Amino acid sequence: MANMKVGLVGCGNISAELCAALERGGIAAEIVAVSDVIEAQAVALVNKFKLNAKLGTVDATVSAADFVVEAAAPGAVKPVIEAAIRHHRDCLIMSIGGLVAEPDLLARTQDAGIQVRLPSGALCGVDGVRAAREAGLDRVTLTTRKPPKGLAGAPYIVERGIDLDALTEPTVVFEGTARDAIKGFPKNVNVAVALSLAGIGIDRTTVRVIAEPGSNVNSHEVVAEGAFGRLRTLTENVPSPANPKTSYLASLSACAELRAAALAFSK
Ligand SMILES: NC(=O)c1ccc[n+]([C@@H]2O[C@H](COP(=O)([O-])OP(=O)(O)OC[C@H]3O[C@@H](n4cnc5c(N)ncnc54)[C@H](O)[C@@H]3O)[C@@H](O)[C@H]2O)c1
Repeated sequence: MANMKVGLVGCGNISAELCAALERGGIAAEIVAVSDVIEAQAVALVNKFKLNAKLGTVDATVSAADFVVEAAAPGAVKPVIEAAIRHHRDCLIMSIGGLVAEPDLLARTQDAGIQVRLPSGALCGVDGVRAAREAGLDRVTLTTRKPPKGLAGAPYIVERGIDLDALTEPTVVFEGTARDAIKGFPKNVNVAVALSLAGIGIDRTTVRVIAEPGSNVNSHEVVAEGAFGRLRTLTENVPSPANPKTSYLASLSACAELRAAALAFSK
């Protein structure tokens, strides 16, 4: 069976981690096309990993591949999914937050008969929440704990003038719906949306953000209750060795999805 041909939209850190995973071997896939709004980024990726890949538009990249990875930005989600529908290609969407502004997109992919993979990212428990939904969920809560410096600059913190340096003990700085959390803490958006999509949606999923002075913890706790019973998961993340901005588990979840897609393609 030939390798699965992969098109990459967005040639930054996540795509570099996927290329490194392919270089290590064991995944029956190869990058054949790349696209980036900054052409130099695409050229740098091609050169770094000695890819035999064409540089082109989103449409050309999707068309040239069997499987497409969006690892760009929320604004790229709609054009990538629409091209995937046009060319009937399965895809992996990393910028899950981009789906919030386009609530009909996933239904359109179902109508078109293509599969959209969404990584679980830096979060454990998404699989259990998805299964629990089958019998009905009453409550889903995501509690994110970060050192205060990890929250600096978040719109919610800035707009309310919260003085993170003045905190002396763990403090709940936000509690509300996932929809409001996404606006207030856009850097946390992918985990909140992944959990909401698996469970009871962005308006019924509760998010709490806790600033923990003096700690290096960057953790996500999921609690869900429903007809199935109750689940509680805790994920304590370290940064990706290749990219300190992203949790290692989030990068690994992208690699795992690519591996699963290649396996499915080979069958
Ligand atoms: N789901 C998750 O758990 C998870 C984890 C990490 C990152 N992400 C998301 O994945 C995406 C990529 O992350 P990254 O760390 O590789 O980012 P990055 O900034 O390192 O790279 C993004 C690349 O995409 C390019 N780009 C931006 N907009 C584009 C567009 N519309 N079309 C084509 N290219 C475009 C940029 O020029 C850049 O080269 C981000 O949206 C990030 O939020 C999701």
